[in-house]
Amino acid sequence: MKIDVVRRLPETPDTIVLYQREEGKLDDFEGFIPDIMLEAVRSFVETEQITFKYGESSVFHYMLKTHLVRILIFGLGKPDNLTTEKVRKALADIVRHAIRLKTKHIYLVPGFDVPLTDAMFGQVMSEAALLTIYKFDKYRTDANQHVPEAMHLVQDSKNTRNLNKGILEGRILAETTNLARDLVNEPANSIYPDTLAEAAKTASLQYGFSIDVYLLDKLRRMKMEAFLAVAKGSKHEPRLIIMRHQGNPDAKHETIALIGKGLTYDSGGYCLKTPQGMISMKTDMAGAAAVIGAMSAISTLKLKVNVVGIIAACENMISGDGYRPGDILRSMSGKTIEVVNTDAEGRLTLIDAIHFAVEKEHADRVIDIATLTGAAVMALGNSMAAVFTNDQEWFAKLEAVSKVTGENIWQLPAFEEYKEALKSDVADLKNTGGQWGGAITAALFLKEFVGDLPWLHIDMAGTAAREKESGYNSFGATGAGVRLLTALFKEME
Ligand code: BES
Ligand code: MN
Ligand code: ZN
Repeated sequence: MKIDVVRRLPETPDTIVLYQREEGKLDDFEGFIPDIMLEAVRSFVETEQITFKYGESSVFHYMLKTHLVRILIFGLGKPDNLTTEKVRKALADIVRHAIRLKTKHIYLVPGFDVPLTDAMFGQVMSEAALLTIYKFDKYRTDANQHVPEAMHLVQDSKNTRNLNKGILEGRILAETTNLARDLVNEPANSIYPDTLAEAAKTASLQYGFSIDVYLLDKLRRMKMEAFLAVAKGSKHEPRLIIMRHQGNPDAKHETIALIGKGLTYDSGGYCLKTPQGMISMKTDMAGAAAVIGAMSAISTLKLKVNVVGIIAACENMISGDGYRPGDILRSMSGKTIEVVNTDAEGRLTLIDAIHFAVEKEHADRVIDIATLTGAAVMALGNSMAAVFTNDQEWFAKLEAVSKVTGENIWQLPAFEEYKEALKSDVADLKNTGGQWGGAITAALFLKEFVGDLPWLHIDMAGTAAREKESGYNSFGATGAGVRLLTALFKEME
């Protein structure tokens, strides 16, 4: 879908969206639309008693000479209450109307200036539109979703340069988020460690970051035994995917490790999940997808940060080779782990990736993003990711950007007292901490491997996918993490 800025409406527009603030006047549209059309709108608005409350919308058809125009009147409420996220959601609503109306060209006509900078306004509009038209229907032989050809922002005197810059940035963020969505939505018979690595290579060529992929032999030589134990039960060999964006060549500048959980499928292993619990487990690589998407975005935007993206990709399956409850593993760091639950596999892959990041990549900071625990979903539901940290200042940055991106986060405590639950009689640690506070004990387990480095742990088990479309999210993968992480790196430039 093309998105651009135009100065006025064409002779025969297809769908016009008139958006206005609460208590705004119809006179504000004067000059943008023909006077006789404005009169028709006026009587429609009066009869229907439209007040432009946030989200209020109505459509009517209007004959302009010999041409039928669809007019969508959309309320944005009080400008003081508008947030970037509310603008995104309103636009998603508008775009869904346009899809239903089989619109080819959407013309957005302002009744007032949305209180955002030109660049932010452009970004939010294109981001929301392109996220909304996304649909994963490649496997449906009856796929027939209509997609508008173009969305035109009708603006007369605005600074179109910044507006266009924003539109481009929004497109980059939406495209890379949609890339992550695609990877998560692909089923596990199509995305397994090798094909995930191939997808990361394709992204590296398209978006311009560098990449290394380590095969089984190399992982064995590096003694990533915790990661390899999880991978063992699958016919598909594991892969360690290492992506680099060197945006700040100044060597003194710190390297941030961005580690994504990459379980291309999680059956639970010998501690098998229920059929119901297993259905969505192709999404257990959503952290990895967020990392690939974010690497793509930050290298396209040429952000001045040094980031190494790391994915320990494998599949948690059952076979004669699978790891078992009771096994004792020596992680790459040397710390030993008693396996008490093979379904707590993500943390085993992550600790070797974290150790690799610190030891081999000399990371100065660590972020991990993972569909790690059902407990995080229990606590916060589907619209908030749980975040743990040992660096409150850094967390504050993440929280600030999350308010702008609309990817909600909520801090949970890395409460040291609960470390007790991870004590093992036979090894240094066990891989689960019992029934209660599961998101916290999982975080504490990871924390053992980051040492003193600043660390952010994002448990996105709830936000990775959804069961129904809503706002700019479609059914299935949300691409969560891509916009949030990119915004954080932008803040750290
Ligand atoms: N991938 C799951 C977590 C998950 C659950 C993600 C639901 C998305 C939706 C993870 O590997 C897992 O199985 N965690 C267990 C840990 C438990 C065995 C300590 C869980 O949360 O039940
Ligand atoms: Mn699991
Ligand atoms: Zn898992």
